[in-house]
Amino acid sequence: MADNVILVGFMGAGKSSVGRILAARLGRCFVETDEMITATEGKPIPEIFAEKGEAHFRGLEDQAVRLLALKRGDVIATGGGLPCREGRLDALRAIGTVVWLSGDFGALYERALRGGDRPMLSGRTREQAEALYETRKPFYSKADLTVDTTGLNPDQVAAEVLKALRGRARPPRLWPPRLWPPHPTLSHTGGEGTSS
Ligand code: S3P
Repeated sequence: MADNVILVGFMGAGKSSVGRILAARLGRCFVETDEMITATEGKPIPEIFAEKGEAHFRGLEDQAVRLLALKRGDVIATGGGLPCREGRLDALRAIGTVVWLSGDFGALYERALRGGDRPMLSGRTREQAEALYETRKPFYSKADLTVDTTGLNPDQVAAEVLKALRGRARPPRLWPPRLWPPHPTLSHTGGEGTSS
């Protein structure tokens, strides 16, 4: 297992800010799939969408996912639509622990609108953006862990993610030991109230 921590979630979930904080706290490198794409294309995401369209951008995401297989121990923030294609979430889970930064749609939407030019939101009404979120949820929900970001700032979300990661890494509980064979009074067939 490549031991990466991979953040997924809708636009405005705070994947980049939380990812940076997490990477600093864990002493790991921080990688963003949108940055990888911007670097290969030599232009910002809105320009890629405007000049070559969404289908081209999704193809670039495919390449980015293939390159992620080379990463070891990094914190990786993915673009909001990246895990929402057949097989993508499984490809991410194969290289680390996938964490969904979920949240109330209204809060995500407001934050996404404030956070600059997002081609998937321009030309969409609020209702259409919410419908997009609904179609994406089934993909996000296949993540290993979910952290609800509602009402939390990036520092608090990062703390919740760390807590969830540590909880997951905890060794199996050894105490109390398994009750076997069951005590006669606990047994389903021979318990109280059964007549013979
Ligand atoms: C997209 C989200 C963006 C970026 C691109 C497409 C999407 O990333 O990858 O504009 O389809 O939701 P953020 O989630 O960081 O905004």
